[in-house]
Amino acid sequence: MLERVHPARPGWYEKLYATAMDKGMQSYEAEIAQYKSDLFSQLSVAGKNILELGVGTGPNLKYYASADGVNVIGVDPNMYMEEYSRAAATSAGLPSSNFTFRRGVGEALPAEDGSMDAVIGTLVLCSVKDTDMALRGNNSSLQQ
Ligand SMILES: C[S@@+](CC[C@H](N)C(=O)[O-])C[C@H]1O[C@@H](n2cnc3c(N)ncnc32)[C@H](O)[C@@H]1O
Repeated sequence: MLERVHPARPGWYEKLYATAMDKGMQSYEAEIAQYKSDLFSQLSVAGKNILELGVGTGPNLKYYASADGVNVIGVDPNMYMEEYSRAAATSAGLPSSNFTFRRGVGEALPAEDGSMDAVIGTLVLCSVKDTDMALRGNNSSLQQ
């Protein structure tokens, strides 16, 4: 499913994209910080299992990952996002054992039905090829 939805791109392209997101989104993140802070303060995540779809470089983690006992699975097809999102998780105070990066796509979420308490996604649905399939929830049975 991953290959069908997100055909392999050259490594240099995926790496460049990850670096560009990390550096290029800083002013956007600064501008939207208060809004995100207000929004994420409404989410109670302590002790919960959170899946972040299209986690990218992990710009949202600082808003919720410091909560006690939160477990985060960051899903993204671009393997170069792992380094950035893992660093963001660490700097947010999330123990490394509580953060898992899974290479995958929203159309075939790598998580069992009912195993997550909340799914977070920002700036991601425009990248998802089949938004209906991604929003439908557990579709791992469609993996082939
Ligand atoms: C514009 S970036 C946003 C990243 C992050 N959520 C943020 O707010 O900065 C879109 C992300 O979605 C990922 N992505 C692309 N196609 C995807 C798919 N089908 N399912 C999940 N993530 C996908 C990209 O690799 C990228 O990291």
